[in-house]
Amino acid sequence: LYQLLPRDRSLPPLVFHWIPFVGSAPAYGKDPIAFFTKCREKHGNVFTFILLGRRVTVALGPKGNDFVLGGKHTVLAAEDVYAPLTNPIFGKDVVYDVPNEILMEQKKFVKVSLTLDKFRAYVGMIEEEVHGFLKTDPTFLIYQMNDINEWGSFDTMKTFAEMTILTASRTLQGKEIRDNMDKGFAHLYSDLDHGFTPLHWMFEDLPLESYRKRDAAQAKMSEFYQSILRNRRASGGSDEDDVMSSLARQRYRDGRALRDHEIAHIMIALLMAGQHTSSSSTAWTMLHVAEHPEIAEALYQEQVEHFGQGEGQFRAMEYEDLKKLPVLDAVIRETLRLHPPIHSIMRKVKSALPVPPSLAAPSEDSVYVVPAGHTVLASPALSQVDPLTWKDAEKWDPARWYDQDGAAAMAQREYDEGTKVDFGFGLVSKGTESPYLPFGAGRHRCIGEQFAFLQVGTVVASLVRRLELRLDQPFPEPDYTCMMVQPKKSQIHYRRRHFD
Ligand code: HEM
Repeated sequence: LYQLLPRDRSLPPLVFHWIPFVGSAPAYGKDPIAFFTKCREKHGNVFTFILLGRRVTVALGPKGNDFVLGGKHTVLAAEDVYAPLTNPIFGKDVVYDVPNEILMEQKKFVKVSLTLDKFRAYVGMIEEEVHGFLKTDPTFLIYQMNDINEWGSFDTMKTFAEMTILTASRTLQGKEIRDNMDKGFAHLYSDLDHGFTPLHWMFEDLPLESYRKRDAAQAKMSEFYQSILRNRRASGGSDEDDVMSSLARQRYRDGRALRDHEIAHIMIALLMAGQHTSSSSTAWTMLHVAEHPEIAEALYQEQVEHFGQGEGQFRAMEYEDLKKLPVLDAVIRETLRLHPPIHSIMRKVKSALPVPPSLAAPSEDSVYVVPAGHTVLASPALSQVDPLTWKDAEKWDPARWYDQDGAAAMAQREYDEGTKVDFGFGLVSKGTESPYLPFGAGRHRCIGEQFAFLQVGTVVASLVRRLELRLDQPFPEPDYTCMMVQPKKSQIHYRRRHFD
């Protein structure tokens, strides 16, 4: 009933709910995009809803993205929101368990470990892993039987989750992790991953099996990475020039080297940050490609043009090549527009924050103020499908990223270089005030973007080279109950490519 009483007019409008504490959790949890769209119709771009006792103020549109992602970290803190979920998984002294300045240093350490040289080496490794998977995994028996007329099928999420962890461990995680993937590391990962759910976010500790397994897996995994570091040191330094050895060479600004457990926990954070994001992005991409034979053909012809040596033979891809494949590039960009894995980006408000009137205001001469203690939430997932910005917003149409000739995703390249671009349906600009932000923006922007494009692009190209694809079911709905939006259970049909 308190919702019907007159409220302080500087507070953003409150979304009506029936059950105290629970608030709008069911509607938000079921389909956040539909929930935000409905609330926006009633309240405009800024409103507050109750999420299991928390007051969450949503700021929508490019200006809403700017409000949340461009705010000062002393006023809008990511760690206060994410730490309950991530600290037990990543471990001590990294990411959201440290002051923001230290996180910035840790992000820089990883960034300098992801050099061009490494990216060059990764493409071949990823291709090899994908081909190895096709040749050995029982899912692809039909492929292995060499029968070009028979169709098989595979479970979309399961397959791409497996391929992603194999390719990420072979590249980012280093040789020892890849070698142990079949010998127990995968189990540890699985136990840790079961702690990466909305339940574990809302309740940091409960006397449940999944919490016990999460904590045990974290301890074992941390020790595993640390033992690799010790072994490498004991053998007089490793030949491996991977992220772990690069981290071991770095220094904090005060001159201190990273301790073994910090390196271990950064590696776990990278494993987790890249796994669901990349695997769901690959799954969505391949589902769209399977549904659109004309795009699958365009992707295949692009491979033939750039790498073809006749009879289904291709030269190996190189990192530089990936930048020259506009169809592949557009297919991934467009998939990330419709299916960014992270639908809600949140920060905790540390001191009362006025809302810019250009975003929303109660009247011409007053402003909304978001009180300290609220959580603010931006949703690029919504601005990326907003019909006010995008023509045929709901349609998966990679061609929207091509230039006029379909020759290159010129527009996006300019976007990447930081200049404003007119796509013909509105401006998309780099920075925090943009409708297209699948990798976030500002201080907490993703450091994995280039790697993700490399990984998803190489997996998709390697599969399109070898398989014809078909979708024999309605396009799957998004599953919002997981931490990252992934397709509901779905199968893609495939057969070995036919070469005349
Ligand atoms: C941050 C998306 C892959 C590491 C973020 C954020 C988004 C995002 C939206 C911002 C979160 C926020 O502001 O609260 C994605 C997508 C990916 C992807 C869509 C793949 C398609 C990766 C990979 C890695 C990675 C492969 C590791 C190599 C990180 C890190 C942060 C981050 C370290 C910074 C967190 C912070 O500063 O608070 N990512 N990511 N991501 N991502 Fe990614």
